[in-house]
Amino acid sequence: MPSIPTVMERGDYEDYESLPKPRTIKGGESMRVIVADDYEIMSKEAAKIVADQIRKRRDSVFALPTGGTPVGLYAELIRMHKEEGLDFSRVFMFNLDEYIGLPEDHESSYHFYMYDKFFNHVNVTRDKVHIPHGLAEDPEEEAADYEWAIKRVGGIDLGVLGIGRNGHIGFNEPKTEFGSSTRPIYLAKRTIEANARFFEGDHEAVPRRAISMGIRTIMNSRKIILLANGTEKSHAIYQTVHGPVTEMVPSSVLQLHPDCTLILDKDAACELEPSPNGFVPGRGIRTMVY
Ligand code: PGA
Repeated sequence: MPSIPTVMERGDYEDYESLPKPRTIKGGESMRVIVADDYEIMSKEAAKIVADQIRKRRDSVFALPTGGTPVGLYAELIRMHKEEGLDFSRVFMFNLDEYIGLPEDHESSYHFYMYDKFFNHVNVTRDKVHIPHGLAEDPEEEAADYEWAIKRVGGIDLGVLGIGRNGHIGFNEPKTEFGSSTRPIYLAKRTIEANARFFEGDHEAVPRRAISMGIRTIMNSRKIILLANGTEKSHAIYQTVHGPVTEMVPSSVLQLHPDCTLILDKDAACELEPSPNGFVPGRGIRTMVY
């Protein structure tokens, strides 16, 4: 396992914007990677970027993930709202995905998750919150309306992503076309297995379909951050950063995005090669550019 390069000390890391912009490498692509010592620091780094975006533009448009990974991010944003007055009232939220077939009050639906883990605890404006409707009569039409709703508010400013073990982003599973927009999809077997833990371990209970933002929808975000923790994500992260850009690994497309930052804990970063570019120190974090 390659070790992550050590960094020079240059005082505390406070200001995300002061970090050097990724250098252009590999014929135009580059990726910034922040490796945090632990999950809590990873979550706080992500929250700082979200908060900076809101402070820069109060009516920013976000794409937001669900799952185990972002729970700490949402907890930190709630703390920032309560203790620092971070204001969500003008912010637009668009969930990356929702299961088809679950009612919104089902405890495993992403509606339920988002309100339970985040929205109920901050001052979001309800009609600025968008999550695909899993019980829509016509999922194709629901997806098309969703895509249109994103365009109507000017597109996504900051796309926040998790990643599946198979490299999926949103519910865009391997072989999804990079040109895809929001649409109904089928979950991969590996995703059903991984998500069974949110259905009391019952694979049969996991819906087979979902509505997901497309890869192109995500790639149109002005800025993207992707969070990952744990060794079970380390290979997908390796492929995201070092692998070929291929529809077999949906997250590999992020190599083509002009402003993408991966925020990882050490375990998720453990397969990464030492950075060929600069890195910047901070308390509990290292930053690398590939
Ligand atoms: P997880 O899911 O955060 O629960 O690991 C991430 C994903 O599947 O995108």
